[in-house]
Amino acid sequence: MPIMIEAEEGDSILVSGPAKASLERGEVELFGKRCTPKTELKIPYGKCFPLISLENCLLKVITGSMGEVKHLKEKVIPVDWYEISEKLKKDEIVTSVILGEIDVGKSSLATFLTNKLTSSGFRTAVIDLDIGQSDIGPPGVIGLTIVKEPLVSLTDAPLIDGYFIGDNTPTGHLLQVIVGASKMVKRALEEKAEKIIVNTSGMVYGSAARVLKEKKIEIIEPGLVIVLQREKEIEHLVSMFKRRYRLVSLTVPRTLKRRSREQRYFLRTSNYLRQLKNQRILTIKMDETGLKETSFLTGRRLRNVERFEKYLGTSIIYGEESSDCLLLVSTSKVEKERIMSLQESLKKEVKVVTPPELQNLYLGLENREGKFIGVGLLKRIDFNKGEMQVLTSSREEEVGYVTFGYLKISEKGEELLKRKIGSF
Ligand SMILES: Nc1ncnc2c1ncn2[C@@H]1O[C@H](COP(=O)(O)OP(=O)(O)OP(=O)(O)O)[C@@H](O)[C@H]1O
Ligand SMILES: [Mg+2]
Repeated sequence: MPIMIEAEEGDSILVSGPAKASLERGEVELFGKRCTPKTELKIPYGKCFPLISLENCLLKVITGSMGEVKHLKEKVIPVDWYEISEKLKKDEIVTSVILGEIDVGKSSLATFLTNKLTSSGFRTAVIDLDIGQSDIGPPGVIGLTIVKEPLVSLTDAPLIDGYFIGDNTPTGHLLQVIVGASKMVKRALEEKAEKIIVNTSGMVYGSAARVLKEKKIEIIEPGLVIVLQREKEIEHLVSMFKRRYRLVSLTVPRTLKRRSREQRYFLRTSNYLRQLKNQRILTIKMDETGLKETSFLTGRRLRNVERFEKYLGTSIIYGEESSDCLLLVSTSKVEKERIMSLQESLKKEVKVVTPPELQNLYLGLENREGKFIGVGLLKRIDFNKGEMQVLTSSREEEVGYVTFGYLKISEKGEELLKRKIGSF
């Protein structure tokens, strides 16, 4: 049964998904985008859309089993969000970085500012450094979009370029995140963005988080650092930046609810599935392709692997050796002690991998110019032919670079095991 809600100017209607809403009469604002009658909104499970009534209006909502609607006699978008959007319009500031822990409204603020800026005619780039809860592009990818007109959600924005990290957390990939951030800012400027909004991950506590945030800000050199905090929970980051950068602290909406782990996982899974739609198998010639984040194809191919087979007590399908590493593909798992002992005697790193460990590894694809062209799942490596079979929805035929990720993803979009850093 649809629920009909009549709201007055300044009221808020919070619709939690799964739900569908259609505006029958009047005007509402969603993250700074004005919505007129006949607007149809689809709210996924795990998200809540705060609709602000701009005049008397009538909204029809149909909720799914976990969906919910609330009508409040208050405006749930903080005044300081409006004030900062006005400041960004008037000021010279090009790049703003949003900092905050998880579930404080970072994505919503990024959407709100983007919508306010595009409504005033600014060509606005958004860079999404939150690889765990990405809005732009696939999970595990730093996404860049250029927005020309207001949107309901940044997930609707086209991906202009990306930088593949291949994990659902920056932990262990701090350098990669910094390189990606720097590249995407450069790309945004090449795309003639007049304003750049950078959203960041909720990783804000601990030494790794501090250094990540410090270097991120140092490489981006933002005109404004925007901090979203409920109390003073990221004051340590404020202290790091306040002397060198213009910084503003904004209010977290009182009505914003925290998402459960399960809701976060659901949103990520839906995104993997979206990215793998209309998939096909692409065959990639390994020696014509630049491989990244892997030791494969960095050594000399070993023709005779018998002594290693004896030493490790397994059959070896493929082997290569370089000054610092011996990489073997083995038919079965090898005990750690044997690997350590071989490592000791060779005085170099020994990496042993089995074919099942490679299967369904999350991959990032780039064209020959280094532009991100999609993600894929590694299905098989034929070492004799030197070919990789990759399941991908990318339509590009020419792959210039393949980055090995750190997650294994099922074809249903579930996150399986993780690959250990440096393992192969
Ligand atoms: N004023 C508001 N009132 C209620 N809910 C809101 C409000 N603003 C945003 N939301 C909703 O709250 C949820 C969390 O907000 P958002 O995704 O922006 O937070 P986040 O900090 O980006 O979270 P994450 O760390 O998971 O990326 C979203 O579903 C969003 O639509
Ligand atoms: Mg977010």
